[in-house]
Amino acid sequence: MTTVSAPGKVYLFGEHAVVYGEPAIPCAIDRRATVTADLREDDHIRVRAADLTLDGFTVEYAGSVGGQPDVAVPEELVDAAMGYIDAAVAAVRSAVEDPQLGFDLTVTSELPLGAGLGSSAAVVVATIDAASRACGAPLDRRRLAQLAYEAEAAVQGGNASRADTFASTMGGAVRVEGDQTQMLAAPQLPFVVGYDGGAGETGALVAAVRALCETHPPAARVIETIGRVVSEGEQLLAAAPHDDPPSESLLTELGGLMDINHGLLAALGVSGQSLEAMVWAAREAGAVGAKLTGAGGAGCIVSLDPTPETTRALRYTPACVEVFRAELDTDGARVEPR
Ligand code: PMV
Repeated sequence: MTTVSAPGKVYLFGEHAVVYGEPAIPCAIDRRATVTADLREDDHIRVRAADLTLDGFTVEYAGSVGGQPDVAVPEELVDAAMGYIDAAVAAVRSAVEDPQLGFDLTVTSELPLGAGLGSSAAVVVATIDAASRACGAPLDRRRLAQLAYEAEAAVQGGNASRADTFASTMGGAVRVEGDQTQMLAAPQLPFVVGYDGGAGETGALVAAVRALCETHPPAARVIETIGRVVSEGEQLLAAAPHDDPPSESLLTELGGLMDINHGLLAALGVSGQSLEAMVWAAREAGAVGAKLTGAGGAGCIVSLDPTPETTRALRYTPACVEVFRAELDTDGARVEPR
């Protein structure tokens, strides 16, 4: 039995533009998906995923990846969760060159699905790591990140950047630009996350931005401008001393860039009413910056505030169903004690 956890992430800067080859800076946070894997004697995959939905479900299905789970929960929900787990198992079977491997998998997660916190990437990373360890073939981190990226891209029809899977594997703040990935030194940032209880459809939102860029050339300029915002943010992080806590001026400058980044995402049409309500509640409470994180539409915002004021304000914001402070998690994927 092997248990591995992997962190979710927030985008400090750069979602959507990263799909067009611009740089992005996602940051792993201290909320995780955890997967326990046991090797089976047959080629079945049994998944217990009590926390992936509000109701929870347990599915068991036999044979090859793509088999039909026998459960009475909405099909899209099962497809969404199982698609990623299927792809992760397929990656392990192919990495160890044994298509007959079967696993018992137990998945728990502190990350809401489809809310911009990288829950699917965390599940994929933790599943691949746990399952490969369970069959005695642990992967080094770069290979884990690569396989997790390929699995996510396969499920999302090629529409995936390396951002979520790389941040979840490595932990900390990372920089992703096309196929290039690197870890960044960053101070502990005072993230406050607001969640509206909803989810955005990453595939549909990415497609909508693509359509907008094709019909409205200024939208393509917006993408380039996001890339410039990311580069400025990166320079700020590089120049800053990495002591804990970060200086007020660094926070103010990063926050200002987050605000600009959010405005540019809104210009691309990927913000939403509840996201705007939370962003503005955070700013009015004194957050130094606030933006949506991830694909948008609905889901989460991330703001920076070292004081308790933003948390307090979001608690009283009707659009916000959950608010929590998040820390940069430098651990990445890690084996959990039994
Ligand atoms: O909502 P999330 O966490 O899946 O993030 C999507 C981010 C995009 O840039 C829109 C797509 C991607 O794969 O990077």
